[in-house]
Amino acid sequence: MSVLLDENKKNLEQATKKIESLRQEINDHDYHYHVLDAPVISDAEYDKKIQALRHLEKQYPELVTPDSPTQRVGAKPLKEFKQVTHEIPMGSLDNAFSEEEMLAFDKRVHTLLGSNQEIDYVCEPKMDGVAVSIRYENGRLVRAATRGDGETGEDITQNIRTIKMIPLSLRGKQIPKVLEVRGEVYISKKGFDELNARASAQGEKIFINPRNAAAGSLRQLDSNITRSRPLSIYFYGIGSKPTGEIPDTQSDLLKAFKNWGLPVSPYVKQTKGMRGCFDYFKQMSEKRNQLPYEIDGVVFKVNSQEDQRQLGSVSKRPRWAIAYKFPAEEVETVIESVEFQVGRTGALTPVARLQPVFVHGVTISNATLHNMDEIKRKKVHIGDYVIVRRAGDVIPEVVRVVETRKSAHIKAIHLPSHCPVCHSKVEQIEGEAVARCSGGLFCPAQRKEAIKHFASRRAMDIEGLGDKIIDQLVDTELVHNVADLYSLKKDQLSSLERLAEKSAQNILDALQQSKDTTLGRFLFALGIREVGEATAKQLANHFGELPALFTATEESLQAIPDIGPVVAGHIVAFFSEKHNHKVIDQLISAGVRWPNIERKSQDLPLTGQTFVLTGTLQKMTRSDAKEKLESLGAKVAGSVSAKTHYVVVGEDAGSKLQKATELGVKIMNEEQFFQFLKQF
Ligand code: IVH
Repeated sequence: MSVLLDENKKNLEQATKKIESLRQEINDHDYHYHVLDAPVISDAEYDKKIQALRHLEKQYPELVTPDSPTQRVGAKPLKEFKQVTHEIPMGSLDNAFSEEEMLAFDKRVHTLLGSNQEIDYVCEPKMDGVAVSIRYENGRLVRAATRGDGETGEDITQNIRTIKMIPLSLRGKQIPKVLEVRGEVYISKKGFDELNARASAQGEKIFINPRNAAAGSLRQLDSNITRSRPLSIYFYGIGSKPTGEIPDTQSDLLKAFKNWGLPVSPYVKQTKGMRGCFDYFKQMSEKRNQLPYEIDGVVFKVNSQEDQRQLGSVSKRPRWAIAYKFPAEEVETVIESVEFQVGRTGALTPVARLQPVFVHGVTISNATLHNMDEIKRKKVHIGDYVIVRRAGDVIPEVVRVVETRKSAHIKAIHLPSHCPVCHSKVEQIEGEAVARCSGGLFCPAQRKEAIKHFASRRAMDIEGLGDKIIDQLVDTELVHNVADLYSLKKDQLSSLERLAEKSAQNILDALQQSKDTTLGRFLFALGIREVGEATAKQLANHFGELPALFTATEESLQAIPDIGPVVAGHIVAFFSEKHNHKVIDQLISAGVRWPNIERKSQDLPLTGQTFVLTGTLQKMTRSDAKEKLESLGAKVAGSVSAKTHYVVVGEDAGSKLQKATELGVKIMNEEQFFQFLKQF
């Protein structure tokens, strides 16, 4: 008996050793392949090692660990993604499109740092993918999240674990205890073509571009789908508070990343001053088409992290970095016809149907003409040869007519007198460029758009309820308004064209899930005119609950920062419509709910704003002004720095005014300050 036990123990010990050495070997090969871009063994040999490890782990399941290379298999599909609050918000970059704009950036960096030396910059390609934040604790991957709205993202750990280029555990020395790294997940050009070829062979929807494909792949609740997508990543920054263990320059940070096993673009370069940056931009513009993935520009970052800290950020945009974007792509084609599309608010947008042209892997067959004023200004006709521009993800637009190439048959473009969808009269308010269908929610086009907006990701986020399904739901009169969505039955959904029973059930599940929302999302989803995501969030924070908004006056609304008379007017008009109250009541009875928000002092109108008062004020003492500002949530500082938002200058202001001018801080005189305070 004891011989047998000894035998078992020995076998287990041997298996443990073998498993550990296989894992080590596989991790080393991953590192050579993905980080150093210098594979040591063939794919077949690599697969053999994985198989051997799998085999052993099957025999000894108790030896499986979450960071074993075999544990990249998709896990059980999730019901929904959990929310993740970012330790440091995920911001975005300011863009520059010209050398002048770049020089202005460099000048500001000099001024803010008080330096007249050439600045050390790190140049990186701007990967055209999706930002993610991945957290390692004690060297192990513990969580991954999308950017979301910058403050809160979605927990996509399961999906991220399926990407082979992302280490499940870090290697090397001096690994920080907690390290959150940020990078861009992308799909290569080749991977994208293969993915679309597969999708079209299976009769599935094809993706518009690699970026959308990457984004869609990361948002799968079933990580097995993510695993089948050719996702890659490059890391470019950190998202946790830097500790002493983290290098103090961007270039060393990226070197450390590589040593820790985190892939970094091979095109990172350190340079001095703008001249070096311009050279890099030129080189990358020339290389762009040969790169195996899409980049939409380059990024320049101040190398020293101490300088980065000093420069800080404004509205989540670092002042120590800038994206120098490649110019938009332009092509020539001909306008075959013009149609008018009706938007959510009834706005009629003229859309040119083009002779299809192929630009950078995408076929363009439509382009917006914006409105009738633009058509007049650009002198566009049907039949004209035109230049069409596509920039990043935005809708292509007609830029100008090609004067040197005139068609024999051109036709003027007329604004229709009646809505092309519901035939209600088209109205145009004097002085406004936009013409609108007057049909309101009687117009099926407006209804469809309102429902699409309601279901969209940033609103109620009803996954799977796509545009085509909504079109059919409205056309078949199964749904008249957004609240009707919640009384849909499975057989009604599966009676729609091309909607299998399983997808119908998925939509019902998604509808059910969407009921738990936030007040901000709900307000945004209602589609009140001019109330975007940020305004909706502000309204939610300010009022905390819905009933308070019903009775809000235009004056009280205008007390909220960024809400002017026009928006306030739209909000009051929306809540004075009986119909809207009925729909809201219906939604709440269907179970749509959100937690009310406790109004915190954080939510005061000037929270986060720093003021400096200088010189003598005539109408109030400085201490009264200070008290007033503080009661509104502002901070009043004694000296001007890069972090100051406003400087209020009275008479005989001295050096502080000068400093503010140098730093480009906003300045108010006493009269402007009074007007400013009046709004609260
Ligand atoms: S640094 C505060 N570096 O561009 C944001 N971003 O608009 C700092 N991106 O959300 C970002 N390549 O998704 C940085 N080398 C790079 C990048 C990069 C692509 C994306 C990223 C970010 C967006 C900024």
